[in-house]
Amino acid sequence: MIQLNDICKSFKEKEVLRSLNLNVKKGEMFVLLGSSGCGKTTTLSIIAGLIREDKGDIYVDGSRINDIPPHKRGIGFVFQNYALFPHLNIYENIEFGLKARHKQRNNRNEVKRALELVGLDGFDNKNPMKLSGGEQQRVALARALVTEPECILMDEPLSNLDAMVRERLRHEMKQLQKDVGLTTIYVTHDQVEAMMLGDRIAVLNNGQNEEVGTPEKIFYKPQREFVARFIGMKNIFNGKITTLDEEGGVMQISTENFELTAVLIPSTEGTHVKACVRPEEIILMKSDQKTSARNEIAGRIITIFPNGPLMRVLVDVGEDEISVDITRLATRDLGLKKGDKVILKFKATSVHVIM
Ligand SMILES: Nc1ncnc2c1ncn2[C@@H]1O[C@H](COP(=O)(O)OP(=O)(O)OP(=O)(O)O)[C@@H](O)[C@H]1O
Ligand SMILES: [Mg+2]
Repeated sequence: MIQLNDICKSFKEKEVLRSLNLNVKKGEMFVLLGSSGCGKTTTLSIIAGLIREDKGDIYVDGSRINDIPPHKRGIGFVFQNYALFPHLNIYENIEFGLKARHKQRNNRNEVKRALELVGLDGFDNKNPMKLSGGEQQRVALARALVTEPECILMDEPLSNLDAMVRERLRHEMKQLQKDVGLTTIYVTHDQVEAMMLGDRIAVLNNGQNEEVGTPEKIFYKPQREFVARFIGMKNIFNGKITTLDEEGGVMQISTENFELTAVLIPSTEGTHVKACVRPEEIILMKSDQKTSARNEIAGRIITIFPNGPLMRVLVDVGEDEISVDITRLATRDLGLKKGDKVILKFKATSVHVIM
């Protein structure tokens, strides 16, 4: 549906997009995930035709649109800062989207339907400045939807809202997107948002597409070390495959410091790999207790600090440090403190291997 081939863009000396390739399918919610400044807004602006690429081709449904002006591309845009007009009421703000595309027919019904879609029927005469952030964002969404675009681009549309409103709107937007079957490119730097919304996610780094996949693949089986780090796989160890146990379905990985057991993947002994373990997959105990976990590493607590709703425990295991996330309650029950000796356990299935 939307295809970017080798898009390059520089602002003066600064290279922002470096041969960016993307392929968005019809009807999907495609999330662009990346840190600040990696080129997300630039990418959307190029697709919408608001800025011009230096090089590369943009296709919609197989047709090259590089030379088509923005209002004829059939692409809706929801900006991060809503960009509502303070001197127009809600009805006029939404109608503006139609007028900008010279669609004059039967505006009243179309505006009304767009307002209904975003759950704001009856808001016609209100002043946008008197709405909450969440309501303003719905108006911005309605203004983009009213033109019945082929696809819609959303640039961090929820980042200015508080956590509760954000979560509610996220659900609503996902539902609306599915109901309407609207091809959507959604930009965010928030992993949770990407995971919840995306049918597929592309992780951008430095103006390039590092990896594309389903949330499941990006978050649990990334193929690239950058992506693994970006999505919070704190524990990444360089190692070498030492033994392949075909019968047991596992393999041994030797790192500088310890041995790991991971699920067997097609490979050969001696291959250098990165072994990754998510902090929340590790069980921390003060004394050795029997579990079914195949991996066991002893260490000493370096520090404990809050990490969102959980506590992050940093454990010294020789040359390496391992991050473990546990609940506040567990931290208290175990009476954990700096300097304590602990045992870390995790399953073979918790070790993700990047070749
Ligand atoms: N019009 C411009 N002129 C000069 N530099 C620009 C312009 N627009 C963007 N840049 C630079 O290009 C880089 C990428 O910007 P972009 O806005 O695409 O990042 P982003 O991924 O959207 O970041 P954020 O998450 O902070 O919104 C930044 O370093 C930015 O300073
Ligand atoms: Mg941006």
